[in-house]
Amino acid sequence: MIVTPHREGAADGPHLFRPLQLRSVTLPNRIVLSPMCQYCAVDGVPDDWHFQHLASRAVGGAGLVFTEVAHVEPRGRITPGCLGTYSEAQALGFQRIVRFIKQQGVVPGMQIGHAGRKASANLPWRGGQPLGAAEGAWTTVAPSAVAFADGWPTPDALDEGGIKEVLAAFRRGVAMARDVGFEVIELHAAHGYLGHQFLSPLANRRNDGYGGDFAGRTRFLHELIDATRSEWPDHLPLFVRLSVTDWVEGGWNEAETTELVRALAARGDVDLIDCSSGGMHPAQKIEVFPGYQVPFAERLRARCDIATGAVGMIQSPHQAEQIVATGAADLVFMARTLLADPYWPQRAAHVLGAPRTWPPNMGRGDAFA
Ligand SMILES: Cc1cc2nc3c(=O)[nH]c(=O)nc-3n(C[C@H](O)[C@H](O)[C@H](O)COP(=O)(O)O)c2cc1C
Repeated sequence: MIVTPHREGAADGPHLFRPLQLRSVTLPNRIVLSPMCQYCAVDGVPDDWHFQHLASRAVGGAGLVFTEVAHVEPRGRITPGCLGTYSEAQALGFQRIVRFIKQQGVVPGMQIGHAGRKASANLPWRGGQPLGAAEGAWTTVAPSAVAFADGWPTPDALDEGGIKEVLAAFRRGVAMARDVGFEVIELHAAHGYLGHQFLSPLANRRNDGYGGDFAGRTRFLHELIDATRSEWPDHLPLFVRLSVTDWVEGGWNEAETTELVRALAARGDVDLIDCSSGGMHPAQKIEVFPGYQVPFAERLRARCDIATGAVGMIQSPHQAEQIVATGAADLVFMARTLLADPYWPQRAAHVLGAPRTWPPNMGRGDAFA
């Protein structure tokens, strides 16, 4: 028997533990498990490893738990160990995870994506470089036939029919996410993957309606959102993860992101922008320090009138509390901090003076936490 903890956030007290309503979904607090590839799936199927990864962060008290990026077709996987949204076995694996997360009073989210020209790579602990033919490399696709970096294969440029096929694969993936019970979906359009490849002039050299000027380069993302919303119910929230800047001269930048996010806010069907950066080009120059991407979330929230999520080296409870309390962002996405400590939200509640929400069968551990 599963014992569901009492998770309703309080309307007062620390801002990090106040609930947030997005459409019909109420997140019990502002802590989000940021998507994190585990690189260990066989045929894209979530298994016991993925179950424990996501289940333990739900038990630990994050309000919203995102899967790692799940890819809409086999050639869109970053590595052979990445998850997919295109088979019945994958749907069954996700279903079990979703059921457990909900039983914890936590909201399950799926991040969905396509790696484009950065697909067909080796596992990070095997170097992360492009797979060789003997390792099962496959042909990648992208907006233009431009390789990610020296030593990376040149992708096939998608023609208009190819773009339609990719959008159809997204529709099928979103339908799977809906049918297995996810309550939030996030489009991965950051970190140099396909959605971002269309946005950035460093990867998009097209001269048809999907490239060239700002309107052309942002068209794919708008069509991707249309495709997503055609399957994703109106009452459920849709997030978009963007790289706010490529950190490269001549690349996608914050001014273009701001213009894009204003347009996304005006559409009215996107609920939150998850503000990340980089991943487009090996020449990127990033100065990394605690909270280094928070100003992106803060400026976009203020300038574009849309909810934002902050991510990147958010480590301490007071740092996280300040981000929400000052209105820099609505949600705090955390990856490595929660990887290191699934129970971080419980500890943060203690530090900030919010009620803790251990499941009752773990209550006696509270005294020792
Ligand atoms: C092991 C690992 C896997 C990741 N996989 C994804 C992913 O699937 N999708 C994504 O958008 N970001 C991914 N990221 C990036 C994180 O979501 C996050 O944006 C980044 O690690 C910065 O946050 P942090 O400082 O809290 O770790 C990954 C990060 C790590 C460490």
